Amino acid sequence: MTAQVGVAAAQPNALGTRILELTDSLAQWSESPRALTCTYLTNAHRAVAGEIARLMSNIGLETRIDAVGNVVGRYRSHSPAAKSVIVGSHYDTVANAGKYDGRLGIVTAIAVAEQLAAAGMALPFHLDIIAFSEEEGVRFSSAYIGSSVVAGRFDRGELLRRDAKGVTMEEAMRTAGLDPANIASAARRKDDIAAYLEVHIEQGPVLFESDLPVGVVTAIAGNSRFGVSIEGVAGHAGTVPMAYRHDAAAAAAEVVLCVEQRCSRTGLVGTVGRLAVPDGAPNVVPGRCDLTIDVRSGVDADRRAATKDILADMDDIGKKRGVTIKTTSLLDAAAVQCSPRLQGLFAASVERAGLPVFRLPSGAGHDAVMFDGFTEIGMLFVRCGNGGVSHSPLETVTASDCDYAARILMDVLETLPPR
Ligand code: HGY
Ligand code: MN
Ligand code: MN
Repeated sequence: MTAQVGVAAAQPNALGTRILELTDSLAQWSESPRALTCTYLTNAHRAVAGEIARLMSNIGLETRIDAVGNVVGRYRSHSPAAKSVIVGSHYDTVANAGKYDGRLGIVTAIAVAEQLAAAGMALPFHLDIIAFSEEEGVRFSSAYIGSSVVAGRFDRGELLRRDAKGVTMEEAMRTAGLDPANIASAARRKDDIAAYLEVHIEQGPVLFESDLPVGVVTAIAGNSRFGVSIEGVAGHAGTVPMAYRHDAAAAAAEVVLCVEQRCSRTGLVGTVGRLAVPDGAPNVVPGRCDLTIDVRSGVDADRRAATKDILADMDDIGKKRGVTIKTTSLLDAAAVQCSPRLQGLFAASVERAGLPVFRLPSGAGHDAVMFDGFTEIGMLFVRCGNGGVSHSPLETVTASDCDYAARILMDVLETLPPR
């Protein structure tokens, strides 16, 4: 490990303890009293943005909140013509979330910047820490809003998407004091960016089973996501004979099993994460059923084949049951390879930290995918406790593992050659 800067050198796990302190602090704002839920542009979400901005400006970073709610803090290089290295992750959460998904990457970068600032250490590039405002796609079923805007690949059509209360994304932005007209100005220029780095919890069991604090990410799985609405015929639960029914929920159940069966082949995962009978009642044959389908694989051809088969099977189910099945594509993200050069830099820093180098792919999606083709991307995973559980309040990490991750990130920033 290169010279340790600031207070980190003094106390064991000081950086890791600081990181847990910061994730606890960001978890104080939620949309619900009994769980951590912080979805795009809600009051809780805006409060978290304010706290992140406060943390960044307290270090002396040039801090701003952009047109879609990304919180950007710059640790300026001494060389004016320097490029930027973006270190980012997201601060929105799923419903009933854990405290570390996304946020760990943001506060690790902030803890490292605190050390660099305390030591007055200059970097040959600007360090741009970006807390992306929306990655999960929960409120508007539109994922990667924050990072897609920064990478200049945001589709303005997404502004028309509505949440469960019928509010459009555009209306929510204006209510939050953001101006959608300025979205394009939040995009960065490819030539200005030297690399994109992200520290994230693994969200799976591999590091936990291997008893390793960190891992170097090799690739990020491709992800197809659909909204599905099934239109059948509502009826009286007591009077419509079974043979006469066009039951939308029974059709949905067949779709769920079809996704499970098709994605049980090697290297694929398939999930129906949302399933609802709008205005359902115990004594009404469901006339309508809405669901989502999420298919992933590290091999794009496998993911596309599985998706094609599922859509064809849904066609057959619709015909057989006399229901109409409509699908809307919500996401079609190709698998992404992490830069071999950045993997090598992370691996060298892991070694200097005295740890074995372990490389693994990511089944989860990350903001990094938006920077594929824009700049080199590198990711470091941090072990998840409780068997690797994530997207759950049972998500947990240790101060020691976070301390390793912060020191490794600091070492990568100190050894990253200017481009
Ligand atoms: O769905 C994912 O993989 C990420 O958590 N957004
Ligand atoms: Mn997530
Ligand atoms: Mn995440």
